[in-house]
Amino acid sequence: MLSKLVKSAAVIALTVCSLNANDFNAGAEKDRLAVIKYLETKFADPEKNRNTFFPYSTDEELKNDYDKNLKHNDFAIGSYSYSKDARSQYEAIKEMPPYEDGIEKGEELYNKKFANGNSLATCFPDPTVGGTYPYFDEKKKELVSLTSAINDCLRANGEKEWNTKKGDMASFQAFIAYSTQEAGKKFDIKIESEEAKKAYENGKQYYYTQRGYLKLSCAECHVQGAGQRVRNEKLSPLTGQVTHFPVYRLKWDELGTLERRMSGCVVDQGQVPPKDESTQMKELLYFLAYMSNGMAIDGPDVRK
Ligand code: HEC
Repeated sequence: MLSKLVKSAAVIALTVCSLNANDFNAGAEKDRLAVIKYLETKFADPEKNRNTFFPYSTDEELKNDYDKNLKHNDFAIGSYSYSKDARSQYEAIKEMPPYEDGIEKGEELYNKKFANGNSLATCFPDPTVGGTYPYFDEKKKELVSLTSAINDCLRANGEKEWNTKKGDMASFQAFIAYSTQEAGKKFDIKIESEEAKKAYENGKQYYYTQRGYLKLSCAECHVQGAGQRVRNEKLSPLTGQVTHFPVYRLKWDELGTLERRMSGCVVDQGQVPPKDESTQMKELLYFLAYMSNGMAIDGPDVRK
């Protein structure tokens, strides 16, 4: 009898816990689904949706350069998902991907011994974890991004920290992304406490706040503006925007991290970007990563 009571109390306690865990991400889940629905509606038929979503595009462009009936996972390749022309160029480059040396270099770095005999493999015994960053460290009450986790590992082992934008950092992240992709894993970002929820909310607020001399928010370009042309490129959508990092950009002629790419956007807004390992940057990454939840990791990748 007693053991039965104890058992059922345990079941109740468990249920309460899991209900709470679900609750913390309820708002984020609503946001994620709303953006997917918005994008699927917008790209169901750009020509037909001209007045609602594409007032500045030409008829010819809408008719010839956009695909129809895009669904959630189609957005994983960013602006190439809707632009036929850009996609064929992208697919041609992918036949001889310029980032392969980067993945190899990353694997060497993974196994290379530090002066104290440890290695990055000691800190990341499982390299297929690309879809779990940033995560909220509930003990330290702070976000950990992949970039900060890598530098934390180096610092803790008495090694010199890496440049957070390119070089070894980008190569090592290419190896992590590739290993995660090979394992067939998806983005799986968790929000399991009040503090984690707050961090998500801060990142979301950053994304939707207008700033700079143009008074633009990230969302105006990458949600409402997704699919619009800016010079010769179409704007990528928020959904799936971070599934493929690091990227080899033709403009950079090398691999670079997500922080490097986003900082470029903030500079274009006429602002000073947050430092790559700062709380503000990690909150923004947390929001972006959550919005790609459920999508396959497909990095590294190539962009113009
Ligand atoms: C004035 C419009 C504009 C604003 C505002 C803007 N971006 Fe961008 N962003 C671009 C353009 C143009 C590109 C290159 C085309 C593309 O892939 O979207 C880009 C690319 C990106 C990419 C790379 C996409 C990929 O597929 O690799 C990310 C990530 C990104 N932006 C994030 C952000 C974030 C976060 C903010 C706010 C801090 C922001 N952007 C603000 C115009 C903008």
